[in-house]
Amino acid sequence: MTTTLIDGIGLLYTGDPEREEIPGAALLVEDGVVAWLGPAARAPSGAERRVDVAGRAVIPGFVDSHAHLIFAGDRTAEFQARMSGEPYTGGGIRTTVAATRRAGDAELATHALALVGEMARQGTTTVEIKSGYGLTVEDERRSLEVATAFTDETTFLGAHVVPEGVPADDYVRLVAGEMLAACAPYARWVDVFCERGAFDGDQTREILGAGLKAGLGLRVHANQLGEGPGVRIACELGAASADHCTHLTGADVDALASSGTVATLLPGAEFSTRSPYPDARRLLDAGVTVALATDCNPGSSYTSSMAFCVALAVREMRMTPLEAIRAATYGGARALRRTDVGWLRRGARADLVVLDAPSYVHLAYRPGVPLVHQVFQGGLLLE
Ligand code: NIG
Ligand code: FE
Repeated sequence: MTTTLIDGIGLLYTGDPEREEIPGAALLVEDGVVAWLGPAARAPSGAERRVDVAGRAVIPGFVDSHAHLIFAGDRTAEFQARMSGEPYTGGGIRTTVAATRRAGDAELATHALALVGEMARQGTTTVEIKSGYGLTVEDERRSLEVATAFTDETTFLGAHVVPEGVPADDYVRLVAGEMLAACAPYARWVDVFCERGAFDGDQTREILGAGLKAGLGLRVHANQLGEGPGVRIACELGAASADHCTHLTGADVDALASSGTVATLLPGAEFSTRSPYPDARRLLDAGVTVALATDCNPGSSYTSSMAFCVALAVREMRMTPLEAIRAATYGGARALRRTDVGWLRRGARADLVVLDAPSYVHLAYRPGVPLVHQVFQGGLLLE
């Protein structure tokens, strides 16, 4: 058994709703798991190793519950066009699909490894990874197989868009049938882009229903570009998360508030598509559990930084710094139905970030500044 005492913590944000902030704290790690945490003066003695973080703040590792990391190619030109006034329609997804189909597995894996490394250095210790740029049985299957090397939180998103030249009904049948059967062994979740121009309500229900039968949990890309049935379907079918939630009616907010479905907000997408941000205040005030995630993808949100999303949530979505850090840790874990990550409490995985700052508030107060001093994953210091 190895034990490490992390001592001298200026402010510990735990992510645990029962005891969210502990000033002047210490935390004991035993075999990769949190064994004790509390005021430093009461820390147990006898740890084999002691790490003094010299008054820095500590937070749980970020839980990035929504990312599209299996792709090839580049969409800089599309971004430039948008910044000159072009709208985002999701049409560029097909550009990435063509590049991804051309790429070999090793290229996809090398690229995903670089992004996962980039995330880890910025404090993300749990990441969800979706397929969705293959859109054939084999390209979706191999996308997910590549993803399993990096995370257990893999999501089958064959229903990202209908590929060019395939009739929509045929494609929905393929996704819910042969493609799902090939992908389910590599996936924990199934997701559908429920949006005008992608999949409608009936198609979404058919695919999610088939996914559920195949033993997968549900998540939905919902209400990103306009109002629609996505959020309500997610709540009705018991999805873990409805993601984007940018255009909501009162009925959508009520459905989220009375369900166990988390609203995952992705402000990087609004930033990079120059769109209005979701109304986080309305959701929080209605009692909805909110998560923040990067949506890292080459089209609508090419950021891997949870800290950037926290800063956007505070500045642009009127979340308080406490609500934003909670959504980026505890909220992300709820969106993945995980109780071992997203908070620091006895028995949780010792995934934590030491910040070069006295408080987590600096993540929003000092936007764009690299504040991650050290990252521990399962109690091990990432080098
Ligand atoms: O979550 N909205 C659908 N999917 C991604 C964007 C994908 C892309 O543009 O490549 C999203 O924003
Ligand atoms: Fe997405």
